[in-house]
Amino acid sequence: MTTFSRLAPPPRLLMGPGPINCYPRVLSAMSTQLVGQYDPVMTGYMNEVMALYRSVFRTENEQTLLVDGTSRAGIEAVLVSAIEPGDKVLIPIFGRFGHLLAEIATRCDAEVHTFEVEWGQVVQAQQIEDAIKRVQPKLLAIVQGDTSTTMLQPLADIGEICERHDVLFYCDATASIGGNPFETDLWKLDAVSVGLQKCLGGPSGSAPVTLSEKYVNTVNKRRHVEAGIRNDDHQDGVASRIRSNYFDLPMIMDYWGSERLNHHTEAASMLYCARECAINLLEEGVDQTIARHKQAGDAMLAGIQGLNLQPFGDLSNKMNNVVGVYIPDAVDGEAIRHDMLHKFNIEIGTSFGPLHGKIWRIGTMGYNARPDAVFHTLQSLETVLRRAGHSLPTGEGIDAAMAVYSD
Ligand SMILES: Cc1ncc(COP(=O)(O)O)c(C=O)c1O
Repeated sequence: MTTFSRLAPPPRLLMGPGPINCYPRVLSAMSTQLVGQYDPVMTGYMNEVMALYRSVFRTENEQTLLVDGTSRAGIEAVLVSAIEPGDKVLIPIFGRFGHLLAEIATRCDAEVHTFEVEWGQVVQAQQIEDAIKRVQPKLLAIVQGDTSTTMLQPLADIGEICERHDVLFYCDATASIGGNPFETDLWKLDAVSVGLQKCLGGPSGSAPVTLSEKYVNTVNKRRHVEAGIRNDDHQDGVASRIRSNYFDLPMIMDYWGSERLNHHTEAASMLYCARECAINLLEEGVDQTIARHKQAGDAMLAGIQGLNLQPFGDLSNKMNNVVGVYIPDAVDGEAIRHDMLHKFNIEIGTSFGPLHGKIWRIGTMGYNARPDAVFHTLQSLETVLRRAGHSLPTGEGIDAAMAVYSD
């Protein structure tokens, strides 16, 4: 029989756009022994997770829970539960993940309307209002932080526009939550979905979502409890049945709610992990964690500029937790990434679509939003670039980053 060695991955420092190294306490939480799905201890943890994520999302929404799966499971659940075939959906696109929202909405048979701004820019609220007036959508779906371009879409003015035009307002904040300001209730969002593998400092595999009363009322019109668990008290909603069983939010809400109606078997280890990520964030403080991400992001940006490298995009709308860096002419970007990984155990990111081969993406998020991780990355990048024959100011990257921390 073939023998396999014990798991022993190299000690990488993950400084790409996510996933990143987990907080050690999150790793420990994941290896905690299981209890049964309806054990009062487990249902107690589920209630705690709901309360914890209300604080993470800054919301009073009762329906704040986990969808099992990676971040796109949360996106699919929100979209497939709300969109009936033929519904109009408006999606402003400023990077790869806007395209993902449009792709998923198309698979829901929505009438999808998109408009795109140049990668490296964000969308203006006025452009959104003009498009809403033209399209009259049921739902607006937008990304907050699009790691493909490193841009952070301002959201504060959009909720009021959606409210005025009676449009559901959904945001994918996977890459930005915990490292950049986010206000579900203040910004009048109806649905938000995220993942753990960025600023929350966990692995991918659980998608926290929060849903407003308006969103819940909309999807509950499509409520249809599956055969085998339904009883005479369960009434079908008046609207068409949701086209996914796994991502059927009314059934998922019934499982998380007081009825505890059986749906999937909760991914308990991921729930432990999501719970720990939220506790970690709240113990440090949401504002303090965002400030730590801002400082690490500023230090990385200063270091990149100190090395005479050019950052990508509109820096006034840059995410705190990731920076795009133009690959200098005559430098082989993949060879640099290879040497960073194999000589220094540091992963930095490549890029997608129109930016492929043009920029690297360097993240500072979650557990890795800390000075030593920033300094090691800059020092290693300087060395790898110098040894590849690229001339750059020696030591100035590190000095600039350290200056941000000593300020
Ligand atoms: C903004 C955004 N949305 C969605 C995703 C998809 O997440 P997942 O790969 O966890 O499904 C990502 C992943 O990087 C992301 O950055």
